[in-house]
Amino acid sequence: MNAQPHDLAAVESLLAFWRDAGVDACYADAPVDHTHIAPPPAVKAVQRATASVIPTGGPNAADAIVEARRLAAGAATLQDLAAAVAAFEGCPLRGLGATQSVFGRGDPKAAVLVIGEGPGAEEDRLGQPFVGKAGKLLDRMLTAAGLIDKVFITNTVFWRPPGNRTPTPQEQAVCAPFVERAFALLQPRAVLLLGAASAKSVLQTDEGVMKLRGQWKEWRLAEGAVSAPVMPTLHPAFLLRQPQAKRQVWADLLALSARLDGSG
Ligand code: URA
Repeated sequence: MNAQPHDLAAVESLLAFWRDAGVDACYADAPVDHTHIAPPPAVKAVQRATASVIPTGGPNAADAIVEARRLAAGAATLQDLAAAVAAFEGCPLRGLGATQSVFGRGDPKAAVLVIGEGPGAEEDRLGQPFVGKAGKLLDRMLTAAGLIDKVFITNTVFWRPPGNRTPTPQEQAVCAPFVERAFALLQPRAVLLLGAASAKSVLQTDEGVMKLRGQWKEWRLAEGAVSAPVMPTLHPAFLLRQPQAKRQVWADLLALSARLDGSG
């Protein structure tokens, strides 16, 4: 296909419109339940339904999750974990045009773990999360809220989804052991979730981010004693398109800051 730049810009703008409208994934003509990654027949159904975007022949999702858990458990530091992510071959996004893994940036002893959705083009180019336009806005807001030196930033997936689409629940599920390990290693005092796909994946809920934002939730790992208060908020890429929503994110950041100070 020889898409011209103006065609691509039009497609990207249309995708952004649908995403803002809440349509954050497109798999096939008919709906497919991507939340069922086991038992194996369900995985096969997902693979069949997404054959045009997810390469077949790789490990199935259940095997990939087992492998991700094994690699994540072997990491004793966030630096080890970044290396484990880079070595992990089970995420379908690896074969869909991403040039490198993008794991995290920030203070490895941070009080706050920030989790976005997935890397975009700039992140893929530079190998760091939130370094494009949305990332710059995020940094400005974190700075204004006095949080910039208190965060470690990562994503629900570590490879760029094609066309900057939202990561699928299956892609998030295979990367989740690394996200959980980051949470366990950092043991943050609070977690900030950016955007609907991040909130849905971490909190395992179908509730919309507009409803979730601004409310404290709890994230507790099934194994181990790790838990922390979680604040879902709107994604900075959404704020670039809907600047009037900045005041809601600002309120969420102030609530987070107050919680760290012990005053909220
Ligand atoms: N959006 C995200 O969710 N994560 C990034 O790293 C960049 C943009």
